[in-house]
Formats: sequence, structure tokens, C-alpha cells
Amino acid sequence: MAEKRGSSITKIAFLCLFMTTTMMFVLSLRGRPGLFDHKTRPAEKLLTVFNNGDSQTSNQSNAESSNGSNRAILANSEKQRVEEGGFQVSCNGNLKEPLKIFLYDLDPEFHFGLLDWKPQGNSVWPDIRTKIPSYPGGLNSQHSIEYWLTLDLLASEFSENPSSREAIRVKNSSEADLIFVPFFSSLSYNRYSKLSPHQKKSKNWELQEKLVKFVMSQKEWKISGGRNHVVLAHHPNSMLNARMQLWPAIFILSDFGRYPINVANLDKDVIAPYKHVIKSYVNDSSDFDSRKTLLYFQGAIYRKNGGFARQELYYLLKDEKDVHFSFGSVQRNGIRQASQGMHSSKFCLNIAGDTPSSNRLFDAIASHCVPVIISDEIELPYEDILDYTEFCIFIRTSDAVKKGFLINRIRSITKDKWTQMWEKLKQVEPLFEFQYPSKEGDAIQMIWQSLSHKVSSVKMKINKSKRYSRFVPRKRRGLRTRTK
Ligand SMILES: *[C@@H]1O[C@H](CO)[C@@H](O)[C@H](O)[C@H]1NC(C)=O
Ligand SMILES: *[C@@H]1O[C@H](CO)[C@@H](O)[C@H](O)[C@H]1NC(C)=O
Ligand SMILES: *[C@@H]1O[C@H](CO)[C@@H](O)[C@H](O)[C@H]1NC(C)=O
Ligand SMILES: *[C@@H]1O[C@H](CO)[C@@H](O)[C@H](O)[C@H]1NC(C)=O
Ligand SMILES: *[C@@H]1O[C@H](CO)[C@@H](O)[C@H](O)[C@H]1NC(C)=O
Repeated sequence: MAEKRGSSITKIAFLCLFMTTTMMFVLSLRGRPGLFDHKTRPAEKLLTVFNNGDSQTSNQSNAESSNGSNRAILANSEKQRVEEGGFQVSCNGNLKEPLKIFLYDLDPEFHFGLLDWKPQGNSVWPDIRTKIPSYPGGLNSQHSIEYWLTLDLLASEFSENPSSREAIRVKNSSEADLIFVPFFSSLSYNRYSKLSPHQKKSKNWELQEKLVKFVMSQKEWKISGGRNHVVLAHHPNSMLNARMQLWPAIFILSDFGRYPINVANLDKDVIAPYKHVIKSYVNDSSDFDSRKTLLYFQGAIYRKNGGFARQELYYLLKDEKDVHFSFGSVQRNGIRQASQGMHSSKFCLNIAGDTPSSNRLFDAIASHCVPVIISDEIELPYEDILDYTEFCIFIRTSDAVKKGFLINRIRSITKDKWTQMWEKLKQVEPLFEFQYPSKEGDAIQMIWQSLSHKVSSVKMKINKSKRYSRFVPRKRRGLRTRTK
């Protein structure tokens, strides 16, 4: 079996080599006028695919560079894929195998125990074939990424077709690409960060201390220096203590607002979407004219950090008739109201609050309400493969607060242009859905994909770090000098 696979892999490698060579030949002819003119287009397309595969570092300042590189679409149609023996192969030479992830069997107090689940028998994990512990709804759920990813890993063990998945759980950490630390840190922050009387430390703080102690003493951490560990910290205030020790790991974050750049950055970390709290707009048959409100915003007032713009914009917009602008966070029955508001608006404002990101963007996407993003420091999920300018309007804060700028810009967008963006929103919406069981191309699979893009640079860093310590482990070195 293994040999058979080996030989088919060799075949594929040759095929890839052949195609690459052919492509380079075609490209080399490009310079000559008249020759192969009609063939250069597909070659260009291929080349972009190759480039996308190679360059992992995104250029934050250059939104246009991601143009045309929608991997979600390429993966289905244009990406050169050869399927053989159940393996998917992409022609940049990599076997498309699922990401292999080792899951620490942490005590339930770090994960499902926080959801009041009690272990039965001696497994620290719920038997998801019988019952799935539920995650609290409302605003809590916007940071529930930790829960969905963990469930998906557990589910991968019962999968009928594991090789078609983006990520699978492996039991032997030496076979793993990444090591997953299943601490539900956002939930821990939401539920247990307040001190009760007589407490010196909150439970959230204690759990973080315990976690750091556990993780840093594991052989997996010591071997890798933590570089291949995946740590969840989606709520901007989660892991406030532990982040300073676990920073070599890959963090899954909502933004970098509260992180020093050496602790978290785009090179190393992954930005995940919020789970939208507004109802999805199923069977949306609205159009430009039926959405009566031009521009919608509902949110809290912030006066610190980047949040000053909210108030400025309020004064600029409050007298516009077709603009809805109100302060107040979206609480329980507010969610229904906000759903109605966003479903009947053409554009939805997403203004930086006390952090650059907020779930409002993802609420807007779920409502097919074209997001207008005024948040200079925002980072967006999967931006290496998604061109947000196709379905969002970006406006610099310094422009937005100029009198008339924002409203004129919005009013200048034609019905046709808006309809294009609305169509695109409906198309990309599934990429931001969290669900169990996870579906192909949903947020969970997209996050695994983003993580898999980090793997080769992580492996390289680990191999590099071994240069001077590989052959002579410290202990033995000590012994040797003594015997001399
Ligand atoms: C990002 O793009 C800008 C504008 O094109 C360019 O000046 C800058 O050097 C790029 N940065 C990187 C890291 O590629
Ligand atoms: C971006 O893509 C569109 C259509 O896919 C194309 O017309 C346009 O020229 C592209 N822009 C750049 C800068 O590549
Ligand atoms: C884990 O995998 C490594 C390398 O493949 C192997 O040497 C080791 O015996 C495995 N450990 C267990 C417990 O199976
Ligand atoms: C959406 O449309 C489909 C097909 O027409 C229908 O089966 C489904 O019930 C509709 N869903 C809702 C929520 O209206
Ligand atoms: C790191 O070294 C291992 C062998 O120990 C090798 O399999 C792996 O490909 C190397 N990784 C990189 C990125 O070079």
C-alpha cells in the first residue's frame, strides 16, 4: 500500500515537473511578438496560483495585491489538481493532505468543563456522537471559535473520509503538523474574569497560569519552542496574562489591537472571523430599492483609542434622513431589531471601537448589507485569498471625518455597483459560517486552511532553531566534559 502510494506520488511529481517546464517554456516565448499570444493568458493564471502558494506574507497596506487570488474559487475550478488514490495534489508540488493536529488532552476545566459539561468515564472529551455540549448564545457566541475548532477535531476521528478534510486529529504528536491547545479562553474571560469577594485572582487568571505551566513543561513545547502550537485568544481580552509567555505559538485572534507587535503579528498568527450574532438572511430577495435605509450603524460609544471617530461620525450623519445611526450595544431583543435594520439597509457601517475589529462586519456580511469599513488598523480573515474590495467599501478615518466625505462617497455608488457587491456578499457569506458539523468551505475549514499556510515556515523555524543543539543534547554535553 505504502509503496503503491509512493510510486503514484513520484508520477505526480513528474507530472508537476513536466507542467512547470512546459509553462516556463510558454512563458519564455511570451517576449516574442505574435507567438503563442492566445496561450499566454492561461499561463498567467497558472503563475498567479503558483505565486499565491509561495508567498505567505501578506502585504497589509496593499489591498490590490490580493486581486484575483480567491483561493476558495481557484480550489474548485482553476487550481491544477490531480486526484489520485484519494490524495489531492496541487501542482505547486505539495501533496494536499489534511493538516495533522495533535490535541492536548487538557483537563475539562479548560474546555468543555467551562460549559458545565461533566466527564463520564475517564475521557476528558465528550462523546460527540451522543451529545454535544452547547455553547451560550447571544454576545458570548461571537468569540466561540475555540468551541467549533475543537469539535471539528474531535469529529475528524469519526469521519468516513478523513483525507477529504482540511484537518484531522492525530494521536502521536511526532506525526503532527501543529499542536492544538484546547483552552476556551474567550469563554473563560467572559465567565470568570471577575473577582469574587475574598479572591485574590480570578478563575480566568488561575486557569491561564495553570495552562502556561502545563504547556511549557510538555515535550512538544520544548522540542519546538512552542512555534508549532496553536493558541486561541479570540476575545481581545482573553489570555491577557498567558500571552506574554505563550507568544512563540500561533495565536488565533480577532485583531492585533491589544498586542505588542513582537507578541502577535500577521506573519505568525491567524485572524479569525467573529461568529455573527445577527440572523443570516436566508433566501434574500431584496434589492437596492427595497432596502430603504441607506446606511446603518448601531453600536456603543467609545471615547478611547480609535473609538473617537464614532462620535464624530454621529454628528456628521445624524441629520441625514435615510441614515440610521444609534448608540447602544446590541443586547438580547436588540439583536432582532438589528437584524431587521441590517436586512433592510444598503450599507452597514463598521467603525473602529475600542479595538479595530468588531462582530458588526460579520453581521453585515450575514445580512448582505455592504460593509463600509472605517478602521485603519483592521485585519481581515483569509485576506490572502479574499479580495475584500469586491464586497466592502474602505474609507480612511481621516477622510471619513471630513464634512460630507462619507455620505457623498456612499451616495455616489450606483445601483449596479451595489448589486454586484451584494451578489458577491451572498457568494462569500458561507466562508464566515460556524457550524457543527462543519461544511466544506465554511469558517472552520477556512481557519484550518489559514493555519496550514503557516506550517512550512513553522517547520523551517524549528529546524533552524536546532542547528546548534541537535546532536549534543545539553545533559550529555555536561557528562562528556566531566569524563574528560
Ligand atoms: C507592500 O506594498 C507596498 C505598496 O505597494 C510596498 O511599498 C511595500 O514595500 C510592500 N511591503 C512588503 C513587505 O512587501
Ligand atoms: C483585478 O481583477 C479584475 C477582475 O478580476 C481585473 O479586471 C483588474 O484588472 C484586476 N486588477 C489588478 C490590479 O490586477
Ligand atoms: C510516534 O511516531 C514516531 C515517529 O513516527 C514513532 O517513532 C513512535 O514510536 C510513535 N509513538 C507511538 C506512541 O506510537
Ligand atoms: C428558502 O428557499 C428554499 C427553496 O425555495 C426553501 O426550501 C426554504 O424553506 C426557504 N427558507 C426560508 C427560511 O425561507
Ligand atoms: C525539518 O526537518 C525534518 C527532518 O527532521 C524534515 O522532514 C522537514 O522537512 C524539515 N522541515 C523543513 C521545513 O525543512
